[in-house]
Amino acid sequence: MAQDHAALPTKATDITPVPVRSGIDLTINGESFRHTGDPDMPLLWYLRDVLQLNGTKYGGEHGKGGADLVLVDGKATSAIGIPMSKLGGKHIVTVEGLADTKGNLHPLQQAFIDEDAIGCGYCTPGWLMASMDLLNRIKNPSDNDIDTLPNLCRCGCQTRVRQAIKRAVAAMKQGAKA
Ligand code: FES
Repeated sequence: MAQDHAALPTKATDITPVPVRSGIDLTINGESFRHTGDPDMPLLWYLRDVLQLNGTKYGGEHGKGGADLVLVDGKATSAIGIPMSKLGGKHIVTVEGLADTKGNLHPLQQAFIDEDAIGCGYCTPGWLMASMDLLNRIKNPSDNDIDTLPNLCRCGCQTRVRQAIKRAVAAMKQGAKA
């Protein structure tokens, strides 16, 4: 039987490339990724189990305590509470993305170290991401502003976290790179 070739492209420019596998495209810490698995997978498991970005912690199925916070388009968001299906085209930043490309710590990270605001460290990534969100909204937060953060620390570092955030604000005013 004769084949009808009329519909076939004749030039390379007639061909529109299509993805090998469709999926959910997003960026994480400036890198592009395509999730082709279960769209209901929470972001937390994509970060930890698929990408091996283990800085973001599990704080329970409802994200209570803020250990699982990441930035989604600049806003602190529970990574256990958001499925991959809602993240197409979004820009995610995790704690692994705070240092610059040369490995210099973000002023907030340095301030947490300098103020000894880290006990066991389990809650620390969440505090850092919540603090990033806070400083995006309020350049010079008061104690009351800091106390609105949803994070908990079982090691009792809250007071030192407050000091660390204020230290980071001062450092950034003096020109430390954010
Ligand atoms: S440093 Fe241990 S829970 Fe906060």
